[in-house]
Amino acid sequence: MAVNIKGRSFLTLMDFTPAEVRYLLDLSHDLKAKKRTGRFDYLLKGKNIVLLFEKTSTRTRCAFEVAALEEGAHVTFLDTASSQMGKKESLEDSAKVLGRYYDGIEYRGFHQEVVEQLAKHSGVPVYNGLTDVDHPTQVLADFLTLEEQVAKPLHKMKLVFCGDIRNNMSYALMFGAAKTGMHFVALGPKELNPDPATLDRVRQAASETGAVIEVTDEADRALPGADALYTDVWASMGEEEHIPRRVELLTPYRVTMESIDKTQNPDVVFLHCLPAFHDFETKIAREQKERGFDIREVTDEVFRSRHSVVFDQAENRMHTIKALLVATL
Ligand code: CP
Ligand code: NVA
Repeated sequence: MAVNIKGRSFLTLMDFTPAEVRYLLDLSHDLKAKKRTGRFDYLLKGKNIVLLFEKTSTRTRCAFEVAALEEGAHVTFLDTASSQMGKKESLEDSAKVLGRYYDGIEYRGFHQEVVEQLAKHSGVPVYNGLTDVDHPTQVLADFLTLEEQVAKPLHKMKLVFCGDIRNNMSYALMFGAAKTGMHFVALGPKELNPDPATLDRVRQAASETGAVIEVTDEADRALPGADALYTDVWASMGEEEHIPRRVELLTPYRVTMESIDKTQNPDVVFLHCLPAFHDFETKIAREQKERGFDIREVTDEVFRSRHSVVFDQAENRMHTIKALLVATL
């Protein structure tokens, strides 16, 4: 059956069928190949998109801007701190106003309910650019990268996410794995185990695709046979106060060359959504080190190794967001 997602919001991959996810990935491959030929068809000519950011960003903002501009759309960036939204004006009213000006709205912030409310009241497609519990545009880029880098289809791959297994990336990857039939393992301490209700929903979706979703705190059980290892920061945006406890809990789950060796796969790939703490070249990593906390979730050796495909992932944010805009607008 033909796939048509024109006019749809993209709040979580859980709202999409396996065929719709496949369609977005195929379109991403096509648009990436087309860019390499230097051809642009201005598929978004005349469209206006607003980008709302309540949290900071490099990749998501720039990927949306470049993707939109390359296809002829116009973009407005709005830092929510400098707008009326949620302060002098209700979310519902702001959504109704923005829907009158714009053909699409991207939002990054804390609560998933905000993207849901924006979608409900604006009348235009809304894109989740990261919330506390999801990061679906990142997963499209990650899966495009896996298809380029691993010589097997997604439904035959084993992806192990190491570290803070109840953060937005862990959940988003779980949702994506469930929709594509992947073997996904969340490897982290029991204290950070994913929310049981979310796991139930994921396993229900997995039962329809043959995906396997596991949670474990045992590296020796999780790592053998992995095609890809993924990690993310130990304290997500807004969680900085938890750093001391996270370092204590997550240091055994740092991705090291030993983790790579334990996969027993010489071609295993290493993924990270970025930004990453892999050395002490950032203000935050240095300040925390001075306080006695080594917050690196991955060693510099792994980050810079031949296994690492993190900058391919970063590039693919743009191609996949472009596909999402073209498919929905
Ligand atoms: N991966 C990602 O979302 O990066 P930014 O926070 O820079 O947008
Ligand atoms: N888990 C991270 C992802 C950043 C892209 C955060 O929310 O800060």
